[in-house]
Amino acid sequence: MAKILVTGGAGYIGSHTCVELLNANHSVVVVDNLSNSSEEALFRVQQLTGKSLDFVQGDIRDSTLLDQVFAQYSIDAVIHFAGLKAVGESQQIPLAYFDNNIAGSISLVKAMERAGVFKLVFSSSATVYDEANTSPLNEDMPTGMPSNNYGYTKLIVEQMLEKLAIADTRWSIALLRYFNPVGAHQSGQIGEDPQGIPNNLMPYVTQVAVGRRQKLSIFGDDYDTIDGTGVRDYIHVVDLANAHLCALNNRLNAVGCRAWNIGTGNGSSVLQVKDTFEQVNGVAIAFEFAPRRLGDVATSFADNQRALDELGWVPRYTLEDMLKDSWNWQKQNPQGYSN
Ligand code: NAD
Ligand code: WQD
Repeated sequence: MAKILVTGGAGYIGSHTCVELLNANHSVVVVDNLSNSSEEALFRVQQLTGKSLDFVQGDIRDSTLLDQVFAQYSIDAVIHFAGLKAVGESQQIPLAYFDNNIAGSISLVKAMERAGVFKLVFSSSATVYDEANTSPLNEDMPTGMPSNNYGYTKLIVEQMLEKLAIADTRWSIALLRYFNPVGAHQSGQIGEDPQGIPNNLMPYVTQVAVGRRQKLSIFGDDYDTIDGTGVRDYIHVVDLANAHLCALNNRLNAVGCRAWNIGTGNGSSVLQVKDTFEQVNGVAIAFEFAPRRLGDVATSFADNQRALDELGWVPRYTLEDMLKDSWNWQKQNPQGYSN
């Protein structure tokens, strides 16, 4: 069993991945500056699994701190979630995004190199694909210039890691291109807890359901899709977490840098999500149609065949499961971790 450093492990996807790592008997060290998360998530991860992890509160741009972590723990591989992820905010404060996401990743890989640790799984995003591609998106399709600074940081880090692995064959790097992570651990103990007004569809829907927001604005009703609303590939966060374990396993005896799409391969429209949420949970979601959101595409879903074939990963959860689990988390934790 391996010792895994998880950067950003207190966050939404990181905390779910810690659960799966601990359940698989790996040991876990989390480095997180808690800029978008709560230590409570890590207490709950340990409660859920009955296992303990080590938590170091700190920033991945702090190279002294990273050197200390690598010196103290004999790390086998790193899963790198830490970063900022709000698309709109990245347009207002680009430097914060360049610094956290690009400089932060450089700081991390430099510390890994100093410590002689060369196995890395990186949280990338489907946003790196060129918008001219038609879904299903596969990994051989060209990447493009993302329409926002957040996406730009993901593309830059991907390209940097690819070049690094070419220049130095000790590196073994997995780029996981997530589609739209939603859902929560089945216990309802950990889940997505955005600060402020949610940018993403699912937390907005659950906050309307729990009474924290009045109504959902559906951005656009005239796209060329099944019902005019945007289509996305929603993936259960537990399936996504498990993809990281599969990627780690794949990288154990491999070198180089390779990308995998992590999505179900199915597209669902905003209206389908809203209607299914209402059906499976018996809660009404007030909504209105609003203008299209700048930068949105009509349709985005994955061709996930490469992950199925090469990682031995199989997504298990349906859209119904995702929506039930999102609601189970939100209703048990109406104010997220600050209950
Ligand atoms: P999150 O904000 O819940 O988790 C990120 C964590 O990183 C937080 O706990 C935050 O405190 C920490 N962090 C941020 N900057 C840091 C720094 N400089 N040093 C140390 N810790 C830092 O986000 P998430 O949804 O769990 O996303 C995890 C990763 O996956 C991110 O890199 C994100 O860009 C990527 N991703 C997310 C989605 C999505 O829709 N959630 C989609 C594609 C890719
Ligand atoms: C989904 C659909 C919206 C909110 C973003 C980032 C991407 C990745 C995942 C990561 C779209 C519609 C949304 C609302 C709505 N990020 N919508 N009303 O835009 O596919 O992807 O998150 O870190 O990089 O771009 O996800 O959840 O924001 O939107 O109608 O209040 O829901 O227009 O069709 P998106 P999303």
